[in-house]
Amino acid sequence: MVQMLNEVHVAPSILSADFARLGDEVEAVLAAGARVVHVDVMDGHFVPNITIGPSIVGAVAPLAHGAGALVDVHLMIESPERYVEAFAAAGADVITVHQETCPHLHRTLAQVRETGAAAGIALNPSTPLETLAEVRHHCDLVLVMSVDPGFGGQGFIDTSLDKLRRARAFLPDDVALEVDGGVNAVNAPVLVAAGANLLVAGSSVFDGRDAVACFRELAEAAGES
Ligand code: DX5
Ligand code: ZN
Repeated sequence: MVQMLNEVHVAPSILSADFARLGDEVEAVLAAGARVVHVDVMDGHFVPNITIGPSIVGAVAPLAHGAGALVDVHLMIESPERYVEAFAAAGADVITVHQETCPHLHRTLAQVRETGAAAGIALNPSTPLETLAEVRHHCDLVLVMSVDPGFGGQGFIDTSLDKLRRARAFLPDDVALEVDGGVNAVNAPVLVAAGANLLVAGSSVFDGRDAVACFRELAEAAGES
């Protein structure tokens, strides 16, 4: 399973899906070939928006696992250590916490790994990469936010591209590099060339046209393995 984290994959973010038809939306992208399903958890404190919790992860996980896909949970919440076990029990394969929410990041990463999930660290656009110097050998994934977290449909912050390049050089080879925010079929190949291997895509998959066609266009643009 974790091997998949180091391959190139487009990870549809269900934040932009139609929640009234969530199961159908997830099954559609899985049938289109999605192997990583991204779930955005927001608490109204760390970010202004409130979204979903472990019960929705528990509903989506059997669909993803049935298709051989990973559930990638992005925790945009204060004190994420209070919820790590609940998300792992709900079926999360990857649990990513924000550097900005974890004064004891080394401990929180170990807590995530203890559940059997892969441990990710997310960085806001304004948070320097160098803040990970002491923990980069203790995580499985780094998520470079290319928008300020909280909402789908925002524009890609251009300086993120150079941050991805520097991240790829700074991180151990076996640490996956994920990018989240403003990803589309035009910038996808550039992001992969910069070193990102997991591309989160919300509005460019689920808004507007058919999600299956949009996913396939993105996966092709990314050169998904
Ligand atoms: C933003 C979330 C993203 C969001 C991306 O805070 O972390 O995962 O769903 O949405 P798009 O792809 O529309 O920028
Ligand atoms: Zn996200």
